[in-house]
Amino acid sequence: MDAGKLQPGPALRVSGAVLRERYHAVRARTEALAARLSPEDQQVQSMPDASPAKWHRAHTTWFFETFLLLPHQPGYRVFHQRFSHLFNSYYEAVGVRIARASRGMLTRPTADEITAYRAHVDAAMGALLEQNTPTIAALVELGLNHEQQHQELLVTDIKHAFSINPLHPVYSAAAATPAQRSAPALRWLDIPGGIHDIGHDGDGFSFDNEMPRHQALLQALRIASRPVSVGEYLEFIDDGGYRRAGLWLSDGWATVQAEGWQAPMYWEQRDGAWISYTLHGDAPLRHDEPVCHVSYYEACAYAAWAHKRLPTEQEWEVASRLHGGVKAQQDQQIRVHPRPLADGFTQDVWEWTGSAYLPYPGFRVAPGAVGEYNGKFMVNQMVLRGRSCATPPGHARPTYRNFFPPAARWQFSGFRLAEDV
Ligand SMILES: [Fe+2]
Repeated sequence: MDAGKLQPGPALRVSGAVLRERYHAVRARTEALAARLSPEDQQVQSMPDASPAKWHRAHTTWFFETFLLLPHQPGYRVFHQRFSHLFNSYYEAVGVRIARASRGMLTRPTADEITAYRAHVDAAMGALLEQNTPTIAALVELGLNHEQQHQELLVTDIKHAFSINPLHPVYSAAAATPAQRSAPALRWLDIPGGIHDIGHDGDGFSFDNEMPRHQALLQALRIASRPVSVGEYLEFIDDGGYRRAGLWLSDGWATVQAEGWQAPMYWEQRDGAWISYTLHGDAPLRHDEPVCHVSYYEACAYAAWAHKRLPTEQEWEVASRLHGGVKAQQDQQIRVHPRPLADGFTQDVWEWTGSAYLPYPGFRVAPGAVGEYNGKFMVNQMVLRGRSCATPPGHARPTYRNFFPPAARWQFSGFRLAEDV
């Protein structure tokens, strides 16, 4: 790799103490998530899109070794010469790697060896963090946000793996749940037309895909005050939503046919009642929760059935700013299932938008390996906005652009509706 070409984002004004504290808190959360898994749990890869928990733990560590320690810590000794081959995800500039779908074949290194790898890198990072130059601070912040993204994937990936185990393992016991109630009444929020600012203003961390900030022309619209609920989605199912081709995009209907979809992922009917697999175990559906684990195709079919549409990502961003913003989780609690719906734009499911994932006007891919972080994925994916129950503390903002292919369902993905005025 040509580490000299790495381009960190804008300089961040963070004190060394704050950066060290953040580093250790984020790294510890990954280990807390994995601590609930056995070594066997950490090994499994249930589908090509999902990665083993062990791999997430190692790959996030590889990021710090590759982009921080090797280029910036003179004399740094790599933990293992071949680990770059094993734990590089998709960085062509960093060399060869094993195929994504083969990550579950790596029975070695063991989970314990990954623990040692993490400790080795953390010790070296402790010395590097003493420097706290703007370049290092920016790269550390990128590495921490990268690790937080993998924390969410670790949760969704192990949920998929557990779901296909007939034992339906419990990852964590459910907290005491409030009695089921109705979702808050759906209101239609008026969003004025006109020219609005879109994207990150550069104050604090963002990924490169959130910039540059630019202007967009919006037509006046109305947007739902909350995402679609489980109860509402059941009406769509009961009305034959999964059997009516006319409601679906062509690709969506083909997927329904090919996959045999009849409901969101993880739902099944037993003795006439719907049950959902959750990381707290099997549970009856709660009508007051946001519908979750639906694809873009299902979101569009529901919108067609309801005679509405999905908001664009620009509409979603403007509406969220006007109505309370997107608040990141403040506490360190690990949450793995959406809580009941509330009003507003801080919800426990990512929300599909009607926008294709494209570069903003003026977007430039940074030179070097870090430039591969986002830009090369800007095709064949749709943007999701907001956050989910599994999004780590501090890792949410109104300009955040998540993105997945339209058929993806294993993320905590829901949606809200919009309509033209
Ligand atoms: Fe990654």
